[in-house]
Amino acid sequence: MTVAGITSVQKEGRVFRPPKGFQKRAHIKSMVTYEKMYRQAYRNPGGFWAKAAKELVWFKPWSKALVWNAPDAKWFVGGKLNVSYNCLDRHLSTWRRNKAAIVWEGEPGDQRTLTYQQLYHEVIRFACVLKSLGVKPGDRVAIYLPMIPEAAIAMLACARIGAPHSVVFGGFSAQALKDRILDAGATCVITSDGGYRRGGIVPLKVNVDESLKGVSIVRHVLVVRRTGTPVSMAPGRDVWLHERIVELAARGKFSCRAEELDSEHPLFILYTSGTTGKPKGIYHSTGGYLTQVSLTCKWIFDLKDEDTFWCTADIGWVTGHSYVVYGPLANGATTFMYEGAPNHPGPDRFWDMIDRHRINIFYTAPTAIRAFIKWGDDHPKKHDLSSLRLLGTVGEPINPEAWMWYHRVIGGGRCPIVDTWWQTETGAILISPLPGATPTKPGSATRPFPGIVPDVVHKDGTVCKPNEGGYLVLKRPWPGMLRGIWGDPERYKKQYYGDFDGIYFTGDGARRDKDGYYWVMGRVDDVINVAGHRLGTAEIESALVLHESVAESAVVGRPDDLKGSAIVAFVTLKGGQTATPELKDQLKAHVGKEIGSIAKPDDIRFTDALPKTRSGKIMRRLLRELATQGEVRGDTTTLEDFSVLEKLRSEEE
Ligand code: PRX
Repeated sequence: MTVAGITSVQKEGRVFRPPKGFQKRAHIKSMVTYEKMYRQAYRNPGGFWAKAAKELVWFKPWSKALVWNAPDAKWFVGGKLNVSYNCLDRHLSTWRRNKAAIVWEGEPGDQRTLTYQQLYHEVIRFACVLKSLGVKPGDRVAIYLPMIPEAAIAMLACARIGAPHSVVFGGFSAQALKDRILDAGATCVITSDGGYRRGGIVPLKVNVDESLKGVSIVRHVLVVRRTGTPVSMAPGRDVWLHERIVELAARGKFSCRAEELDSEHPLFILYTSGTTGKPKGIYHSTGGYLTQVSLTCKWIFDLKDEDTFWCTADIGWVTGHSYVVYGPLANGATTFMYEGAPNHPGPDRFWDMIDRHRINIFYTAPTAIRAFIKWGDDHPKKHDLSSLRLLGTVGEPINPEAWMWYHRVIGGGRCPIVDTWWQTETGAILISPLPGATPTKPGSATRPFPGIVPDVVHKDGTVCKPNEGGYLVLKRPWPGMLRGIWGDPERYKKQYYGDFDGIYFTGDGARRDKDGYYWVMGRVDDVINVAGHRLGTAEIESALVLHESVAESAVVGRPDDLKGSAIVAFVTLKGGQTATPELKDQLKAHVGKEIGSIAKPDDIRFTDALPKTRSGKIMRRLLRELATQGEVRGDTTTLEDFSVLEKLRSEEE
C-alpha cells in the first residue's frame, strides 16, 4: 500500500456539484434517487438487475436472476439472448434504423459513418464470411485489428454466431499474440494488412504470420484491407475479407440469424496481466455482461439519443469492449471511433475531432490527460469544445491537479467528470459518480453503482475505519463479473477469492472517507499501471530472463508524473557477460519483441545480485524503495545478505 499516495489526496477537500442545467435533464437527477436505488438494490440485488436485464431482448426468459455458489456466479439462468441482436436488430424496427451507429475517423483523416442499418448489413456479411470459414458456436476467434469499423464489426459478427472473440491489442508483439492464440485455442485470426499510427503503418499481418509459425490450430486468417500495404497470403489459410464477400455474394443473399445463446455463454476472452509471468484469459458471459454494460453506459454517461459518445480506448482493452462497442450500441447510441495517435498530425488532433464531430461525451485515461497538460493549453484552446457536456476518466487514479485541468480547460468548467473505477475482470464500471446526482471530489471515484457492494478491509478481513487505507474488496457478485480464467478454474479461485473467504479481492488499495467516497490508490500486488496499461512485473521478468545474457531479473514500478508508473528492471547477468549501454538497449528491444513496446523498461540497472530473503524470495519492496526514493527506508531484517543492498546503493550513486 502506498501510504504516501493516500495522504497526498487526503488533503483534497474540493467538492463539485452537478450543474443545475445538466441535472435537470439527467437520467438520474438526485442523490435521494441514488440512495433509494442503492438501498433497494442492496436488499434485492436480483430484482434490481432483473429490471435492467428486461431492457434487453431475450429469446427465452430466465428462470432465476442469480445463482451464487462463491466464487461461481450464474446470472439470468436459463435465459437466451444474443448480443449482436441487442446491439443491432432490435434498433432496426425503430427510428434509429438510419441513425449513425458508428462515426469513424482514420488517422490520415478518412472518415466513415455507419448507420444501424448499414452496420447490421456489414455484421451479417462478416458473420457469413466467418461461417464460410467453418467458425461455429463456441469456437474462439482472435481479433488483431487497428481501430477501424471492422474491429467492431468483427466483434459483433462473432457475437452473432456465438464464437467467443479474443481481441489482442495491436501494440502487442507477435510473441504475445501467439501466446494468446494458443491459450485461447483460437482457430481463426482476424487481422488487417496494417493500421495507421503516428504517420507510420503497424505491420499487423506480418506479426500474425510470425506468430503462427509452428502453430497448427489456426485454420484461417481473415485479412481486412486497410492500408493497401502488400502482404503475403498463405494459400489455403489466408483469406481477404473483400474477396470472400464477393464470392459469397455470387452465391446469393447474405443472411445470418442471431444464435439463441445461453445467458452464460462466453461472449469474449480478454487477456490481462496478473501477478505471474503468464497473462490471464479473463472470460465474460453474454446476459449478465450486456445487462450491466448497457445500464452503466446509460446512467454513468447519461447517454441520450442525440449524443455522440467518444471513448478513446482501443478495442484491445476492456474499456473498448464495454464502452466503445457493446454499451453504446446496446443503447442505440452513436459511438465515435478513432484509429490513430492523439498527437498526429499535431497535438490538437483530439480537440479538432471533438470540434468537427461535435462530440458530447468524452471518456479517456488520466495518462492521456497528463500528456495533454504537458503539450499545453493552446492546443485545446484553438478549438470549439462547447459541444462537450460530460467528461470521464478510467484506468488509473487521477491526480487532483489533472482533474482540475480537465474540468477547467476541456470541460470549460461546465462539464461534470465521472471518474470510473473498474477492471478487465469486472466487465463494467462499479464505482463512479452518476453525473446528474453525485457531487464529485477530484481524485475520488465516489460511490458504488447500485447493486455493487465494495468495502475497504484489513488483511484479516476486518473493515477499515473511515480514511484508513486498506484492501478494496467486493462483497457480492455482480452481473458483469468475470466467469473465470480461461482453462484455469483453480487460478480463478485462488487469485480472486483466495485472500478473503467468499469475497472478491480487486488487487487495489483504497480508502473510504466519511461520506462513503472511495479513493482508489492503485495496485497493491505485483501489477503495475504504465500509461494506463496494466502489466505484470513477473511478465516482464520472464521476458528478460529469456534473453541469453540475463541470469535473473526483478522488475518494479517507479512513480512517474506522466505515465503513472515507469518500469525499472534490476538485472543480473550470466557469467562472462559485460554490462554495457548497448546491452541495455538490446534488453529493452528484447522485451518489446516478447511482449510489445508498452512493456519496455524505462530503466535497466545491472547488479551483481538481487536482495533476497533467507527463503530465496526477491525483496521487491526494497528495490521499489531504491528505485523510488534512491534509498531503502523500510524493514530489512529478513534480508539474507546485506552486502547486496550496500552494492545496489553504491551503484545508485
Ligand atoms: O488499479 C485499478 C486501475 O486499473 C486497474 C484495472 O486495470 P484494467 O483491468 O486494465 O482495466 C482498466 C480499465 C477498466 C484497477 O485494478 N483503475 C481503473 N480505473 C481506475 C483505476 N484506479 C483508480 N481510479 C480509477 N478510476
